[in-house]
Amino acid sequence: MSECRIISVASRKGGVGKSTTARNLGYYLAEQGKRVLLVDIDSQGNLSTGFGEPKIATVGGTIVDPMWAVMQDEQLPTSETFIKHSGKLDYIPCNESLAALELQMVSVIQREFTLKSVLDKIKSEYQYIFLDCGPSLGLMTVNALVASDSVLIVSSPEEDSNTGAELLVKSIQQIRRNLNKSLEVEGILMNMVVERSVLTRDILQKTYDTFGEVIKIYDTKIPRTLQIGRAKLEQKSIFEYASKSKAAIAFENFGKEFLAIGGMFE
Ligand SMILES: Nc1ncnc2c1ncn2[C@@H]1O[C@H](COP(=O)(O)OP(=O)(O)OP(=O)(O)O)[C@@H](O)[C@H]1O
Ligand SMILES: [Mg+2]
Repeated sequence: MSECRIISVASRKGGVGKSTTARNLGYYLAEQGKRVLLVDIDSQGNLSTGFGEPKIATVGGTIVDPMWAVMQDEQLPTSETFIKHSGKLDYIPCNESLAALELQMVSVIQREFTLKSVLDKIKSEYQYIFLDCGPSLGLMTVNALVASDSVLIVSSPEEDSNTGAELLVKSIQQIRRNLNKSLEVEGILMNMVVERSVLTRDILQKTYDTFGEVIKIYDTKIPRTLQIGRAKLEQKSIFEYASKSKAAIAFENFGKEFLAIGGMFE
């Protein structure tokens, strides 16, 4: 196994906290002295706007630039032009221009391997690369799963959340059969958990019943709290925004659990 672990942060459901998890887990690991890169591969650009990046498609210096170079069989632009920095964290932003690139990618040979080709050239600089996926299983998410060592599934306890996770697990199995044999599942992180809610408790139980035997479900649950949204508005991680909040403590505990387990091998 290479020294760098590439992890897709994914779910087949929107708004469950993928970008929030990538940002805060990434921040925690960077603070622990790990070399971390976050890559936004969702054309909504929510991870990127959280760092103050513009959504406008005409702005360059995003993941589109090196992917375009791979598609054209050209040399990658120098990494300083598309890798940005926020404190100890490095990130590659994206914006709406990624949607146009995705359309053009459809006709490229080996299209599922475009992102992998980019990451292969920069991964030696990092210990962890997190790919913040969008909610659909489009070509960019497939690219992420092909480029990854593992998938961190984010879920929130709602009526249909297990269906979303099941769909993702099916997609992972398909990718494993066809495109990336060694893709693993890191685990399932439950986000937006409301303590003492009967519905939350019932759905959590169902999640354990459905996946508990085969997939690690992290002990740490991230609570639903307004501070997470407020931190995002201020373009900060929860640690920078409110270091003693319940959410910061939860993300710290999750970071520790993540490091202690270090990936599940099936
Ligand atoms: N634990 C939480 N408590 C309260 N709000 C949260 C929590 N986690 C995330 N949010 C908020 O919910 C919204 C969706 O979160 P986020 O963008 O991380 O989800 P996502 O899965 O990346 O969404 P998408 O599928 O659109 O990419 C954001 O406004 C975020 O601030
Ligand atoms: Mg997101």
